[in-house]
Amino acid sequence: MSVRSLLTLGLAALPAVLGSPLEARAAAAKTTTVTASASTVTVTASASTVTVTASGSACGSITSAPSSSHTTSTSVNTNPTTTETATQTIGFNKAAKSLSPKRYFGTAADIPGTGENQDPYYMAELNNTKDFGQLTPANIMKWYATEPEQGVFNYTGGNDFLALAEANGQIVRCHNLVWYNQLPYWLTNPTTNWTAATLTAVMENHITNLIEYWGDRCYAWDVVNEALNDDGSWRETIFYEVIGPSYFDIAYKTAQAAVKAKGLKVKLYYNDYNIEYPGNKSTAAQNLVKGLQSQKIKIDGVGLQSHFIIGETPSQATQESNMAAFTGLGVDVAVTELDVRSPNLPPTAAQETQQKADYQSTVGACANTQRCVGVTVWDFDDTYSWIPSTFPGQGYGDLFFQPGGPDTPLVKKVAADGVIAGWESGT
Ligand code: G3I
Repeated sequence: MSVRSLLTLGLAALPAVLGSPLEARAAAAKTTTVTASASTVTVTASASTVTVTASGSACGSITSAPSSSHTTSTSVNTNPTTTETATQTIGFNKAAKSLSPKRYFGTAADIPGTGENQDPYYMAELNNTKDFGQLTPANIMKWYATEPEQGVFNYTGGNDFLALAEANGQIVRCHNLVWYNQLPYWLTNPTTNWTAATLTAVMENHITNLIEYWGDRCYAWDVVNEALNDDGSWRETIFYEVIGPSYFDIAYKTAQAAVKAKGLKVKLYYNDYNIEYPGNKSTAAQNLVKGLQSQKIKIDGVGLQSHFIIGETPSQATQESNMAAFTGLGVDVAVTELDVRSPNLPPTAAQETQQKADYQSTVGACANTQRCVGVTVWDFDDTYSWIPSTFPGQGYGDLFFQPGGPDTPLVKKVAADGVIAGWESGT
């Protein structure tokens, strides 16, 4: 079988290539690497994703993942068969809204212009406001996308994202203004080395431009993302190295000035991971908030990313006391990027049950924290999750999966019942 036909037939073709359906299922449930040259297809199974690598003239150009004609990824989750699926149908966001004060439940989405955007099943769920009352752009508002050339702004993708959310009545957490990652080439490789003064001006221009342009179409902005190392020290980003730690305060001061100049209501957040439980990093994040407050610089909230692992998720009590440490400073908190990945694939039935408990702990902590404004998952469908490419061999972290691959119906995992139980446990 040629690689092209394998790609066209997709995952469904693997049984034929691998032998018996049983062998194929076993292999597909692990990570399967398909390496092809002009005339051969070699299949090695070892972990959790299907990776198709091709070479030779018969291969053509591989831009499609199995069973999809439009996704750009060559790596696809091989979702296991679940033992149980969700039973609750009330809706994640509907359940969040029934609390007092009302909370939101939302999701990140990597749209427009991606495979997600062209998957009708994915899009139908994204537009389902019973489940999602809030959206976060996974990439399209980041610096590389919004200011691809110095001083030349591209709002097109962001506008499309906002238009979709607005048509649905979903609020948007805009993400993000200052991050060390996904920066444009001109910023990381300047023709003349940056000085503190020139990079500060660049940062101020970027922040001011985007806050003023999108105004209150953004419910909140993640102004600085991931400024800290896990031990609580400053992450040595380009901004830190060139400007020094004052880049942080300057970013929020600039954001505050833009909010004031336009009379906006948009909330200004700090967003990071591994600050969901007490420890050096959480304490350092609290100190960042205090530092801004001592200078009367606006900060409205802290985003607790919450990229967790099944069975290693901090307990609900731990998350609640950590949230209290932030809200005690007079800021809101939000769970901004929740997922609970399996460290092995496929997960065991016990891990699926634990995943439900882990989702419940985090949502329950938010429900029990008056100033926790909502919970956002970092996408909802394993097919499009960032996890397998960052943590090879891991995955299954989202609330839905597509047993048939992209462009096929979604299945709501039993973990989804944990979300509802979490909201319903709110006091
Ligand atoms: O833009 C190229 C595209 O041209 C190309 O065709 C495609 C091929 O794979 O790659 C595209 O770039 C990818 C980009 O996402 C847009 O899809 C990058 O390779 C990929 O590395 C990048 O990953 C993003 C990651 O941030 C970068 O660190 C993920 O989608 C995004 O979900 C993730 O989000 C971050 C949050 O912003 C901050 N917190 C952690 C979270 C998870 O890593």
